[in-house]
Amino acid sequence: MQNFAYKNPTEILFGAGQVAEIASRIPADAQVLMLYGGGSIKANGAYDQVVAALGGHNWTEFGGVEANPTYETLMQALDVVRDESIDFILAVGGGSVGDGAKFIAAAAKFDGEPWDILAKGSEVTAALPLGVVLTLPATGTESNGNAVVTRTQTQQKLAFGSPWVRPVFAVLDPAFTLTLPTRQVGNGVVDAFVHVIEQYLTYPTNAPLQDRFAESILSTLIEEGPKALSSPEDLEVRANVMWCACMALNGLIGQGVPQDWATHMIGHELTAVHGLDHAQTLAVVLPSLLRVKIDAKRAKLEQLGARVFGISGDAAATIDAVEAFFESMGVATRLSGYGLDQSAVAPVIASLTDNGMLALGEHGDITPQTANEILTLAG
Ligand code: NZQ
Ligand code: ZN
Repeated sequence: MQNFAYKNPTEILFGAGQVAEIASRIPADAQVLMLYGGGSIKANGAYDQVVAALGGHNWTEFGGVEANPTYETLMQALDVVRDESIDFILAVGGGSVGDGAKFIAAAAKFDGEPWDILAKGSEVTAALPLGVVLTLPATGTESNGNAVVTRTQTQQKLAFGSPWVRPVFAVLDPAFTLTLPTRQVGNGVVDAFVHVIEQYLTYPTNAPLQDRFAESILSTLIEEGPKALSSPEDLEVRANVMWCACMALNGLIGQGVPQDWATHMIGHELTAVHGLDHAQTLAVVLPSLLRVKIDAKRAKLEQLGARVFGISGDAAATIDAVEAFFESMGVATRLSGYGLDQSAVAPVIASLTDNGMLALGEHGDITPQTANEILTLAG
């Protein structure tokens, strides 16, 4: 096992009615900015419950953060932060709103052009405190220090990470997820599944506890995910999916083990260039990446097969099972499933190269040329 230092300071407030607790978690004298997306929070009760909880606080709101939040919109929110002397940001929504809040929180304390945090990896040394009321279980953003922001003007989708932007608290009330469209339910389960895979499906390092953490989340997603589609009103199923997605990327399962993340980096380019949903890109890239890297990943593929899918000693059949699971969640696994043909690949590879993604994966051996092979196979 590799050395690690692990601290997750985010307080999880899980279950029905827990939004009320934010009143005591946000400092009484804070000037709060409630950040949200295109309006789904007004249909599922989240907005009303947050407004009620903030009754004793000074607050203002900024709506309109897009799916795949844009730098351009977030900079408008930053103006509000400055004009209104905001000192606490409350994100209410899915991963995009959570990520947007993190970027604004860091930008508010950043000396210089905030885009440099993403484009140049400029270090974040301070941020406004933020909290999250989650309505879409998928990204794990509610309890991690990562954010992904898109710049429309340059078609770039870039990530940053900093302990400064870990949320102070995350409210996980499964009831808020009942209004999710089927497509987002499938997306969320696939995203959480791939987060675990990125931290697990590399090579053996004698880290059996991390392996079993990962396998338990994967098995639970395989059990509960399809139920979220077939029994959409079942709150207990929603609760289990929500907790899985949070645990999948709160940092715990990846401590002390090698990590991959090539599927995500290639996927971000697919979203930036062709507009696919985040999880759709993962469903396209992962099975083909595993097929291209089957030899390097064989030991862990066989372990995944045996422990999670009941497949013995057959890495190729395990990849087929992963792909079938994504399809069963309603998320297509081929570029053609999104109306794209082979001509879609070259611009993605060019963007990957421009953004310096030249040596991805746990061995640093996934070059743009390998990515080309992967996406060609995913046609
Ligand atoms: O904008 P609104 O109206 O809120 O609608 C959203 C949006 O259209 C809707 N939605 C959210 N909750 C809902 C709901 N609709 C009905 N009922 C609800 N309860 O769903 C749509 C998608 O929302 P979005 O926040 O974009 O989805 P998701 O949570 O999947 O977030 C995706 C973003 O997170 C990034 C992705 O790259 C992408 O930009 N990621 C962030 C990560 C992180 N911070 O750790 C890791 C991930 O790998 C990922 O890269
Ligand atoms: Zn993801």
